[in-house]
Amino acid sequence: MMKIHNFPEAHAKVHLPSKVTMAVTEKPDGGYNLITLEWFMRTSIDPPMFAISVGHTRYSYECLQDVRYFNLVFPGSTQKSLLALAGSKSGRDIDKFSAGEVASFPGKLHKLPILKDAAACFECEVVTQVKSGDHTIFVGEVKHSWSNEEEQLFFYPKN
Ligand SMILES: Cc1cc2nc3c(=O)[nH]c(=O)nc-3n(C[C@H](O)[C@H](O)[C@H](O)COP(=O)(O)O)c2cc1C
Repeated sequence: MMKIHNFPEAHAKVHLPSKVTMAVTEKPDGGYNLITLEWFMRTSIDPPMFAISVGHTRYSYECLQDVRYFNLVFPGSTQKSLLALAGSKSGRDIDKFSAGEVASFPGKLHKLPILKDAAACFECEVVTQVKSGDHTIFVGEVKHSWSNEEEQLFFYPKN
């Protein structure tokens, strides 16, 4: 039977992360950062666009205020531990590219790293942003798209 619940109780029932991404951003003082993101979506067909929602406490939020590009990474089958690292440590404290031994090469948009073991990467330029409570939604226009024929998308385990 349908009943009124508080938000966390009702949301727990449908909160089953499945597709999870990471975003690469450029640090204000050079180098790059990675953040795990569940809150993302495709928002336009032509031009292709993705929106990501980034918490105001995240170092990635600071990075995006400064350098208006991100690379949306769809992880490959071997990147589970990198998703855990990028989603639990802050780029303020560690360099996630070296800690995670991330294999990458420079992309075409501001040299944002393309992750060799990802299933796909989309280099985006931020075209607009909207504050959404304690997060901000950054809408990025895809400038360059990469995909890896040998990799399958990693799906976050459902429980
Ligand atoms: C599965 C998963 C999904 C997440 N999704 C988001 C998200 O959509 N937006 C967000 O701001 N943080 C999200 N986080 C939390 C950040 O990834 C985490 O706080 C990270 O350490 C921030 O890194 P930074 O400080 O280097 O930016 C998620 C974490 C996990 C494990």
